[in-house]
Parts: sequence; C-alpha cells; structure tokens
Amino acid sequence: MKKVIIFGGSGLVGSRFIELKKKSFEILAPDAAEVDILEKDQIKSYLTENSAESVINFAAYTNVEEAEKQKDDRGGLCFKINAVGAKNVAEACRDLDKYLIHISTEYVFDGTKENSPYTEEDTPNPINWYGKTKHFGEQFITQTGGKSVIVRISMPYSPFYDFKKDVARFFLEELKNSREVKTIEDQRVTPTLVDDIADALGLLLEKSSTGIYHVSATDSVSPLEFAKTIAETFKLDYQLIGSVKFEEYSRSKNAQLLKYSWLNPTKFEKEFGEGILHSVEEDLQLFKLKVKTD
Ligand SMILES: NC(=O)c1ccc[n+]([C@@H]2O[C@H](COP(=O)([O-])OP(=O)(O)OC[C@H]3O[C@@H](n4cnc5c(N)ncnc54)[C@H](OP(=O)(O)O)[C@@H]3O)[C@@H](O)[C@H]2O)c1
Repeated sequence: MKKVIIFGGSGLVGSRFIELKKKSFEILAPDAAEVDILEKDQIKSYLTENSAESVINFAAYTNVEEAEKQKDDRGGLCFKINAVGAKNVAEACRDLDKYLIHISTEYVFDGTKENSPYTEEDTPNPINWYGKTKHFGEQFITQTGGKSVIVRISMPYSPFYDFKKDVARFFLEELKNSREVKTIEDQRVTPTLVDDIADALGLLLEKSSTGIYHVSATDSVSPLEFAKTIAETFKLDYQLIGSVKFEEYSRSKNAQLLKYSWLNPTKFEKEFGEGILHSVEEDLQLFKLKVKTD
C-alpha cells in the first residue's frame, strides 16, 4: 500500500480525503502543531523520519476576506502559508525525492473568461490577495523543479465538516430552517463534491502524474441555480431563494470576486476516464445520500 503524508489534514478537503482514502493508502497526517509548513526543518525532519513516497499539501490560508486585509503584505500569514509554506513543502519534497500533490484554486484566474471554463492552458491573472498568494505558491512549486502536480479545485463541499460551512451545507441548512437566502444569478461556478476530488487525487497519486490538472464538476451553474437544485434535490421550498446581481453582491466584499469562477476538468477526464467527476446535479444526488446536518 502506498504511503502518503498529508499537510492540512484537519481542513475541509484534507479531512474528507483521509476519511475516504484511509483504506487505499497508508496515510500519515501530522497536525500544524507537529509540522508547521512555515518551518522547513520540521517538514524535512518529518519526511525523513516517516518514509512515505508521496506528500499532499492541503495546508493553506483560505479565508479570502481576511486575506484581503493583508493585501501586498509578504510578511502576513496568508502570503507566508500559501506561498512560502508551499515553497518549503516543495523544496523539502524535491530534496528528499518525494512526489508532491499541491492543491490550488480557480482563484489564480481573473474571472473574466465568460464563454467557457478555465483550462490548464489559460494564463493565471489573480485579482485578489488570496488568489495572488496561491499563484505565488504555484510558481514557487514549478520553479522548485521536483516531481509534483498542481491540482486546482473549485468550490469544494463536503457531506460533513464541523469547523467550516461550505456553500452547499449553508444553502441546505437555511432552506431546511425555512430561512430566506439571496444568491447570485449571473456568476458561473463549478461546485464540486469533495468525494470526487478525493477520488481524483487517489488516481493522480497512483499514477504520480505531473503538471497541472483541473478537478471540478463537469458542468457549471450560477449560485442561484445551485441553490435551486439543492432545494429540488432535498424537496425544499425554492420560493425562499432570492437573487442578486454579481455586481451588487460584490460591493459588500473586501476582496474582488471572480464573475466566471469556473474550471474545465476535461484534461483529467481524457486521461482518467469519465464517471470519476460528476455533473453538479449528480454530485448533489451523491451529497444527499451522505450529508449529515444538525
Ligand atoms: N475551501 C474552498 O472553497 C477552496 C476552493 C478552492 C481551492 N481550495 C484549496 O483547497 C485546499 C484545502 O482547502 P480547505 O478548504 O480544506 O482548507 P481549510 O479547511 O481552511 O484547512 C486549512 C488546513 O491548513 C492547515 N494549516 C494552516 N496553516 C498551516 C501551517 N502553517 N502548517 C501546517 N498546516 C497548516 C490547517 O491546520 P489547522 O486547522 O491546524 O490550522 C488546516 O488543516 C487549499 O489549498 C485551498 O486553497 C479551497
């Protein structure tokens, strides 16, 4: 069984990966107190003491609004974790000959591509500080030159995770409690069930693929359509769902948002086959079978 070390295993995506893949891989997941990715020596010691062939870096600073308050601050936590931390992990992996999967985001793009979702060929041009720091992270990893893959994911949601509410569980809980929700009608997004991401990462890990892959739902929706599909899937009242224009919604945010915040996973599907990633509607059906709410 392949042995893999995970950083960021307590997070939304990493914790679900561990839950779903612990029978397929021998997983070691030190917490941030045991291995702080800002401390290269700690990474190196851990990788030396624990003989895994592969590493997945889920660790990140993911609060987009808080990140914006640190704009252009290379001493801030966001830059340090997303850029310097990623570089530390990449350099340790290169020096110790470990294969690295690094998780990134559609936020490396500028959100202006309106006709079709972003492919791996599109040029990043991040528009907020979170996206910029994640893009620095990607660049550092590529420059480091070890055996690695960058996997960009988009709007992940999980059947359960106590520490952070993702968009799917947010809509579901609001609607279940008969509360009104207002969401964007003219943005395009590719919300993705984390279980699909875990399966995709498992396959990339088995094959030790390199380069860049987009891993997301196979079609796109507006957040409004997403909320309505949730209502339909769970037989809830979609009259509770109101709409707002992207421009208006964006005005309430510090960080500039991406209007076309979507990924195209065709490269992954061509290589690994169809059926691993699902459409938004299919993912919501799977979500319905697994979700735990209060
Ligand atoms: N969530 C999204 O909407 C989204 C969208 C696209 C891409 N992504 C990407 O997907 C990946 C996973 O995101 P997520 O939502 O699962 O993140 P998350 O829930 O915010 O979890 C972040 C993880 O990073 C760890 N971490 C933070 N600082 C660390 C440090 N200095 N050393 C070691 N570990 C540290 C945290 O550990 P502690 O809990 O101990 O601090 C936690 O396990 C990230 O690369 C993110 O950029 C996320």
